[in-house]
Amino acid sequence: MSEILISQDEFEQFRALMRRVAGVDLSPQKKSLVSGRLGRRLRALGLGSFGEYYRIVSGGKDPHEYERMVDLLTTHETYFFREPRHFDYLSDAVLPQLSRGSRPLRVWSAASSSGEEAYSLAMVLADRVGADAHWEVFASDISREVVEKARAGVYAMNRIDGIPPDYLRRFCLRGVGSREGTLQVDPALRRRVRFDQVNLNEALVGVGEFDVVFLRNVLIYFDLPTKRRIVERVARQLRPGGWLFIGHSESLNGLDLALRQERPTVYRRS
Ligand SMILES: C[S@@+](CC[C@H](N)C(=O)[O-])C[C@H]1O[C@@H](n2cnc3c(N)ncnc32)[C@H](O)[C@@H]1O
Repeated sequence: MSEILISQDEFEQFRALMRRVAGVDLSPQKKSLVSGRLGRRLRALGLGSFGEYYRIVSGGKDPHEYERMVDLLTTHETYFFREPRHFDYLSDAVLPQLSRGSRPLRVWSAASSSGEEAYSLAMVLADRVGADAHWEVFASDISREVVEKARAGVYAMNRIDGIPPDYLRRFCLRGVGSREGTLQVDPALRRRVRFDQVNLNEALVGVGEFDVVFLRNVLIYFDLPTKRRIVERVARQLRPGGWLFIGHSESLNGLDLALRQERPTVYRRS
């Protein structure tokens, strides 16, 4: 079967749609990525052009396919204990201050992808605050597919390098039988993490307030005005004195936000 080519106009349509929906800014260099990822979907659906696919996903008549497109055009790379210095800082500097309070401690993994970040946070909380203590991890992503994967809490063995050996023993189970070669997050820990689909580019309804938010490796996909809006929206969910972590390659420079920088990539609400 010959390859279907995406025209510049079609690429611009998908670009505008992703910006409108997710706030994601697909640069002109992403044309071949869009063509490759959506092209496979076109072939699977037996469609003859990107224009036809655009009409399906933008018309509002097929929410399932629309979600599929969002999933395909977002980048989900993640791993356990990514950027480990954040987890050390959380353990050594942040949690000792927070766990003295009497109310439940709430932590949000705000673009959680397939859940590795959220479970890493839960392992640290169970270890440092206590497995039975009053805390919760809320985790969310725009993509329904990764949220479902995250809820299952099953990962390939070759993806678990970052988990400290002690945490592997305490919080993870080795898959057996049909799950050979996988690792499962212990159900007791899994119950402490709640996953939901949340689009950060829309009003945040009912997510509640947090002591700590990890908003990492997602801001790079937004243009400056979108980034400002999203960080402001997320920061409003922080309790006074709450902590915001962004990715090591991200910055809030020039956004003029009501946040105090504690160290590179770590901020606090006044
Ligand atoms: C590269 S992953 C980062 C995962 C994790 N935070 C980490 O640092 O490893 C980026 C995630 O952001 C999600 N994302 C992109 N735009 C979003 C939006 N508008 N709202 C919520 N999540 C979004 C993507 O679906 C993807 O799973």
